[in-house]
Amino acid sequence: MRLTILPLLLVFGDVPPLRDAPPLPKDTLDDAQLSGVSALGLPDQVPGVESTPEARARLELGRKLFFDPILSKDRTVSCASCHDPDKAFATNDARPLGVGGERCDRNSPPIFNRAFGATQFWDGRASTLEQQVLMPIEHPHEMALPLPEALARFAADPGYRGLFAATGAPEPTNDALAAALAEFVRRLVVGDSPIDRFRAAKGTLTPQERRGLWLWESKAGCWKCHAGPNFSDEKFHNTGIGSKDGVPEAARFAVTGDEADRGAWKTPTLRMVAKTAPYMHDGSLATLDEVVRFYARGGNPNAQLDAKVQPFEISDDDVAAMVAFMDALSRSGDPPPPPEETDAEEQVVPNAAPAAPAVKRKAL
Ligand code: HEC
Ligand code: HEC
Repeated sequence: MRLTILPLLLVFGDVPPLRDAPPLPKDTLDDAQLSGVSALGLPDQVPGVESTPEARARLELGRKLFFDPILSKDRTVSCASCHDPDKAFATNDARPLGVGGERCDRNSPPIFNRAFGATQFWDGRASTLEQQVLMPIEHPHEMALPLPEALARFAADPGYRGLFAATGAPEPTNDALAAALAEFVRRLVVGDSPIDRFRAAKGTLTPQERRGLWLWESKAGCWKCHAGPNFSDEKFHNTGIGSKDGVPEAARFAVTGDEADRGAWKTPTLRMVAKTAPYMHDGSLATLDEVVRFYARGGNPNAQLDAKVQPFEISDDDVAAMVAFMDALSRSGDPPPPPEETDAEEQVVPNAAPAAPAVKRKAL
């Protein structure tokens, strides 16, 4: 074994770590959060989740890998560096830092509820999670580690060799690596926001949040694209973000070669959105207030602006209401609210058991 690994290490060699690399996010997740059980507001089943011993072994390996900088060339960056559990599995950098001081080409999206997604990445260039998870490892501006070198690192590490073996892989392979990381990402599930509870008649919203929801569903037209359980239609639209002098970026066109796709990016989820500023694929809008005003003025003009982006009049109070709506969408698993139309202060309910969600999740 050692004989085959040594030459590989010599060929690829490790570059020395950056002196001031940012600290690595810790694994603060609890097991219930990775149970693969769905949540209020989402489909009943999370696609692809199994409860076999192999699936549990894949999860254990994938979870360790996700937080381990071993997957980056200079061992300074983990998946969690750009998908931090404390930041709703995104970051607050417009373009987060990869290895060697390189910046990502785009803003890092939050990566929960990806099991419900039709494609992965802003331009949808990966169609499965198994395809997607290997790409950041080799990407020169992210982890910059050739896959053969990653496999050599695992083969040289008895701990990792054991974890791979438990998944049924006799030795570390690309497929086993992809299956483990995908298993972990697939189980990151976020639902049960105050909006979901309100829609299921299981909770209340403040008058301002309700107004935001109403604007959302009426003249602001947000529902036309941010639709469905994950607040995304999983389609690609040109809102004009990134277009210069009226000329859109390639965007989805780079994947399909279809002229109609120029400037069209995947509609992102809006769950937890209050935690993931700045916004858009290039991080060019700093706040949710700015985002609402961007849509109200009809997006950015360009040759292929989506017909669903239409200007609308909006007061400052209504902008605040729409932001309050998105703030509510950014909470999960709140303690149950007091029953509606009663005074919570004075109310005494003997023997009242709070309606606990099926699986207790820590708020992200
Ligand atoms: C240096 C930062 C960085 C690192 C490290 C990183 N990512 Fe990402 N991730 C991004 C960016 C930026 C994008 C969006 C890129 C694009 O769409 O072109 C992204 C996109 C994704 C997506 C698609 C999300 C969606 O909504 O379509 C998933 C899933 C994902 N990353 C998982 C991972 C995993 C797993 C790892 C570790 C193997 C990882 N990422 C490492 C920055 C990073
Ligand atoms: C035509 C479809 C469409 C409509 C209508 C629409 N959006 Fe979007 N939304 C998108 C797309 C596509 C993106 C990503 C654009 C990009 O990154 O360049 C996006 C991005 C966003 C983001 C940034 C999320 C992130 O993680 O960066 C927010 C917030 C948002 N929209 C809110 C709204 C609100 C509020 C409305 C209604 C006023 C609305 N959207 C209407 C398609 C739409």
